[in-house]
Amino acid sequence: MSKKLSVKHLLGIKELCLDDIELIFETADTFKELINRPIKKVPSLRDITIANVFFENSTRTRLSFELAEKRLSADVLNFSASSSSVNKGETLIDTVNNILAMKVDMVVMRHPSAGAAKFLSQHINASVINAGDGTHEHPTQALLDAFSLREKFNSFKDLKVAIVGDILHSRVALSNIFCLQKLGAHVMVCGPSTLIPKYIKELNVEVSHNLEETLNWCDAANMLRIQLERQDVQYFPSIREYSSRFGLTQKKLDALKKEIVVLHPGPINRGVEISSDVADGKNSVILSQVENGVAIRMAAIYLLATGK
Ligand code: CP
Repeated sequence: MSKKLSVKHLLGIKELCLDDIELIFETADTFKELINRPIKKVPSLRDITIANVFFENSTRTRLSFELAEKRLSADVLNFSASSSSVNKGETLIDTVNNILAMKVDMVVMRHPSAGAAKFLSQHINASVINAGDGTHEHPTQALLDAFSLREKFNSFKDLKVAIVGDILHSRVALSNIFCLQKLGAHVMVCGPSTLIPKYIKELNVEVSHNLEETLNWCDAANMLRIQLERQDVQYFPSIREYSSRFGLTQKKLDALKKEIVVLHPGPINRGVEISSDVADGKNSVILSQVENGVAIRMAAIYLLATGK
């Protein structure tokens, strides 16, 4: 593992080149094999301290980063804004500089504002990993999604991947589009026109407002959650109507003349964008995505920490 990433921070997939993505995948292959052994820990980052700084709720990403760091033997600090002095008016930079004064080498940050991770990287010396910044990017999610597809398909060349749902508010959608296109896949986004951003055509993706047509086109479908917490106005008449038009059910899968792979980044709203039988069914790789998330995050952390 002597190769290096072309970046000092992991802020978005947009900044990565294909060699970076392939290096992360190759490194994650090694770590995935390692974490499936009885002894799951390696001493690689024994002298490294990493702070997980979360200004927004998270289950998968926060736990996955923490486990990845611990598997690499790093020291870990966990910071949650809701129980911190942010509530007393402390700024982002002051908060992080106070954490860094405790000799922290890397910051993993989730923040509700797009661009927050980049802003932080311009003001501190430590490496920054973006764990989701508003509606902008969620690079490790896209990497683990693509890594999970790589386990199912021989090649990304001409692979057709659909991203379905609330594209407008989704950092997962944008990072997935960049990642899949760099790998050579074709991408279609599908959802109500109100939830497809106007700039989408500039991203060179197919656009559909018909789920059945999209499912017939694709080899894999990544079903996204409706992000009601980011919606300031009503984008569709009702959850019931959304679900009947854009929710993935076993009946819709059975109507296809082929098998497709179903992904979901979580958290799932069962019965809205995906039915329980599909989420837990044979087409779903949802829990593989979660498992792969640890290996991908180990790879990203390891490569950034050792590549200086
Ligand atoms: N996929 C994802 O980012 O999930 P969390 O919000 O639970 O971290």
